[in-house]
Amino acid sequence: MFDKVIPRLPFLIAIDGPAGSGKGTIAKLLSEKLDLNYLDSGAIYRLIALSSLQEGINLNDAESIISHLKEIDIEFSGGAAFLNNIEVSTQIRTQEVGRIASKIAQHIGVRNQILQVQRDFFCGRGLVAEGRDMTTVVFPNADLKIYLDASPTERAKRRYKQLISKGIDANITDLAEEIKARDRQDMDRMYSPLKIARDAIILNSDDLSIDQTVDAIILNLKDVH
Ligand code: DC
Repeated sequence: MFDKVIPRLPFLIAIDGPAGSGKGTIAKLLSEKLDLNYLDSGAIYRLIALSSLQEGINLNDAESIISHLKEIDIEFSGGAAFLNNIEVSTQIRTQEVGRIASKIAQHIGVRNQILQVQRDFFCGRGLVAEGRDMTTVVFPNADLKIYLDASPTERAKRRYKQLISKGIDANITDLAEEIKARDRQDMDRMYSPLKIARDAIILNSDDLSIDQTVDAIILNLKDVH
């Protein structure tokens, strides 16, 4: 039925937004509804972060991270994330790994190493890709670009619920501070910072449910040709 709203295949929807804006949930749901591939680009940075942490690599040393990156095997299968064939879906979701992911994502060399890996997800019927530079750097020619935003307070609340439901301990005040610090780090960095693409549609999800947000994006598909 959704073929009717997708004018032509393959089709690419790129979604960027700050931490906790809901882009992961929304992009995944959208990909399922439209039968498109799904790319959680943040998970790639998180896998590299977890591996670097485990190996005690100096996070300021881009060259060490890059040579390490060439030796590891990262994979996504059935919604799970694997590092060297071991499932680490829960381990990559901690605040610490998120913080380290944001730090190593500042290195342009690291970003360049995974550029093609991300682009390769665009195959078959198409892709819904989410992250910080999907609309600006990785897929600048996406058919539909969305900047998904939400207030820091709302994002902290959502992150809190998400972590607790996964059995990860959290404190809402600390989360709000962490979110602000992460925004600064992701928006103020030199390479591929999080920013609103010139041709992106801005959606604020503060007062929207998950389904309403997905529907708002699908509504925009009919304007794309
Ligand atoms: O979306 P996330 O919170 O899982 O991403 C973790 C970090 O990875 C984020 O703070 C910055 C980095 N990242 C990035 O620099 N570019 C992307 N496209 C996705 C994530």
